[in-house]
Formats: sequence, C-alpha cells, structure tokens
Amino acid sequence: MTTWSDRAEAYRESPTHREGPDLDLVVEWCDPGEGVKALDVATGGGHVARRLREEGCVVVTLDPSPGMQADVLAGAESIPFEDGSFDVVVSRIAPHHFEGLEAALAEMARVSKRLVVIEDTLYSSDRHERAEKLRDPTHVRNYTEDEWRASLAGAGLEVERVERFEKTHPLEAWLARTGCEGADAEHVRELLADRMTDDGSAWTDTKIILRARRGDA
Ligand SMILES: C[S@@+](CC[C@H](N)C(=O)[O-])C[C@H]1O[C@@H](n2cnc3c(N)ncnc32)[C@H](O)[C@@H]1O
Repeated sequence: MTTWSDRAEAYRESPTHREGPDLDLVVEWCDPGEGVKALDVATGGGHVARRLREEGCVVVTLDPSPGMQADVLAGAESIPFEDGSFDVVVSRIAPHHFEGLEAALAEMARVSKRLVVIEDTLYSSDRHERAEKLRDPTHVRNYTEDEWRASLAGAGLEVERVERFEKTHPLEAWLARTGCEGADAEHVRELLADRMTDDGSAWTDTKIILRARRGDA
C-alpha cells in the first residue's frame, strides 16, 4: 500500500475526486443528517467523509494505505467493526482496486444497519481495462451494471437506485497521479483513443452509482 501512500496528496487535490455531480449524488443517497453514522471505505483523499461531516454525520474513514491518514488502517475485505455499526457504508471510485470484491461487499453489508452506497467506474471494454492497468498496476477490474447488481445481491443487498455519470479526465493530470509516463503513457493514449476528446487533452469514462439496502432493513 506504499504506492497509494505516495499518491495521497495528488488524490486529496484531484479536482475530479474533490467535487462533481457524482459526489453530490453519492452524498445525497447516503441520507445524511445530524448524528447519522457513516463509514467511508477506501476514503483516499477523504472527499466523501468531508461532505458527509458537513451534513452533520458522524463519519469513520477506513483505508489500508497509511498516507491516506484514515481513522482506521484496514482493507475493505476485513472491516474491524461489529455487525450493524453504521447507518450507511459508502465507497466511492475504489472497489475496482479491491482484490476481493465479494468479500468486501459482504463486509460492507455486515457492518451497515441499512444502506450501502457505491460509486465506481463502469466496465466499457477490454481496451479500457488494459489502459487502466497500464496506467495503474493496482487496478483490478471495472464491472458492468449486471455484475454490480449480482455482487450486491450476493451480499444480501437490494439495489434500489442506479445512476450513471459521464466524467471527463484531463489526460496529463490523470497519468501524472499514478506516475505513468514515456512509452506506457503513449500506449495508454492509444488504448483510449475511442474515448478521447477531439483535441486529445482529456478522456471520458462512465461512473455508476448504486444505492442498496440490506434485505432485512
Ligand atoms: C481512488 S482512491 C479513493 C477515492 C476516494 N474514495 C474519493 O472519493 O476521492 C482509491 C483508494 O482505495 C484504497 N484501497 C486500495 N485497495 C483497497 C482495499 N482492498 N480496501 C480498501 N481500500 C483500498 C487506496 O488506498 C486508495 O486510497
């Protein structure tokens, strides 16, 4: 997890992580309010946590990378809290880094009393996957909406809302955040050619946001 610690400042400052209509909807779907207990899994730069605290929530952040300075140093696959410890458990733009998605979702469902809210990059093609892995070797996999629905159902969660957002990433900043340069950067550019803006300065992916409820809540 030292890779992520080295990137901590870049993710704290990243405009595409810090703000956007996708972040606004994630926060809204957490049903925030005074005293609502929330767990932000893979908090990274802490943007979801910051916004939920502004709404009065009591937030605990969790991340396995020391540089992210989370409240709890742990991976999503093994969350050190009792069953039903939080009203809502949220994870934004991170599950594509989890080695064990099913284990992570089972843990997130277990420690939630009611809601699990996820935002992640939607699978679009094998070329896109190759580009993501080359740009960032910690990338495991993006998933389709059907895969998300099946995985959440497998964790005992009922999907009640789904939304998609197009997100545009300035290319140079996106490559720089993970230290991707030279021939690798050129190859990434080629692999993403079909998703690039006309002037080649940015590319677009689709984020999926899902709100799911525990079957017994
Ligand atoms: C792109 S950042 C998260 C962005 C952040 N949630 C936001 O909204 O800006 C990805 C984070 O996932 C964390 N991570 C990687 N593997 C993980 C795992 N197995 N469990 C939990 N977090 C993990 C990394 O340490 C990193 O902080």
